[in-house]
Amino acid sequence: MSNIEGKVIAITGASSGIGEAAAKVLAAAGAHIVIGARRIERLERLAGDIGARGGMVRLRKLDVTDRSEVEAFAAFARSEFGRLDVIVNNAGVMPLSPLEALKVDVNIKGVLYGIAAALPIMKAQGSGQIINLSSIGGHSVSPTAAVYCATKFAVRAISDGLRQETDRIRVTVISPGTTTSELADTITDPTARDAMKAFRAITISPDSIANSILYAVSQPDDVDVSEIIIRPTASPH
Ligand SMILES: NC(=O)c1ccc[n+]([C@@H]2O[C@H](COP(=O)([O-])OP(=O)(O)OC[C@H]3O[C@@H](n4cnc5c(N)ncnc54)[C@H](OP(=O)(O)O)[C@@H]3O)[C@@H](O)[C@H]2O)c1
Repeated sequence: MSNIEGKVIAITGASSGIGEAAAKVLAAAGAHIVIGARRIERLERLAGDIGARGGMVRLRKLDVTDRSEVEAFAAFARSEFGRLDVIVNNAGVMPLSPLEALKVDVNIKGVLYGIAAALPIMKAQGSGQIINLSSIGGHSVSPTAAVYCATKFAVRAISDGLRQETDRIRVTVISPGTTTSELADTITDPTARDAMKAFRAITISPDSIANSILYAVSQPDDVDVSEIIIRPTASPH
């Protein structure tokens, strides 16, 4: 795949779902991968899988709500592989509930910290790409999902602002529809859980989302794939 071999790509939230699939797909295409998340044993297993297939991978424990950890994660990628070409700000949670819970830390701060950590490195290099995970929930709102959707609207706003502020760094938003992962597992509110069960009845594989990330990375440097919306063909949402 063009423009991907040897690129250094850091992925937050790589211990399951879309982040894990992206790590495998990008490593198979010849990128050097740095994976981060809180569940270190999952990262170790993933790194073992990628390494066994001949891929280049490093891992580091990461909580994206801690700015210093995100800075250390980006610095680790550069020190391990000499540069940082792409950061995929993928870590996210969906603890759906009526409005009052307000768990926005991971989805917004995690993305902002990821941008803040990667930008100085990429500016010094004169190139780079920042990929942020939004959602179809960043395009429309449904009951019990207002806070989650607000975080994903915010990711699109942050990304578009960043794109306009930089002329050498590519900025991409990936907006998946319902995708098989652990994302809905943390919903405890019964109304939200039932609503999500119906909403998520049809899903696509995280590999499909990983392939859209691969597409955005592999375009020529003067091409900014600004947003990809990717959803199940049969899904009404
Ligand atoms: N699946 C979908 O239907 C769907 C649709 C639209 C958008 N998305 C977005 O896609 C992204 C990935 O989600 P997914 O579907 O792959 O869900 P997932 O399987 O639950 O994966 C979420 C990842 O985020 C990590 N994470 C959560 N909190 C973190 C923190 N504080 N610090 C570091 N990592 C953290 C988790 O790792 P640890 O728990 O090990 O830290 C995990 O690796 C999210 O931004 C999500 O909003 C998903």
